[in-house]
Amino acid sequence: MPRWVRVASTGDCPPGNLLAVEGDDQRIVLANVEGDFYALVDQCSHQEFPLSDGELTGDRLECIYHGAEFDLCTGRAMRLPAIRPVKTFPVEVRDGDVFIEI
Ligand code: FES
Repeated sequence: MPRWVRVASTGDCPPGNLLAVEGDDQRIVLANVEGDFYALVDQCSHQEFPLSDGELTGDRLECIYHGAEFDLCTGRAMRLPAIRPVKTFPVEVRDGDVFIEI
């Protein structure tokens, strides 16, 4: 049964940044794009390195290990070598706190 879990305050992840968080024993990467938050599983679908080590490039997250890119909204792999998507999670901001539906 999905439920909402608080994973950070908005100040923990300023615009243009990524933040590794945990929710229900899952590693998740938060991304802040100009105040809009996105959440993806913190594991690249190429060789399972942490996506939280990567960089934001517009509305994509780039894995620094081999250069794959993922769409922040859908988790879709947008650039090789990744071909499989990564899981995304619904995100809500409530009173300065970031919640993820897990
Ligand atoms: S582990 Fe991410 S591109 Fe290879």
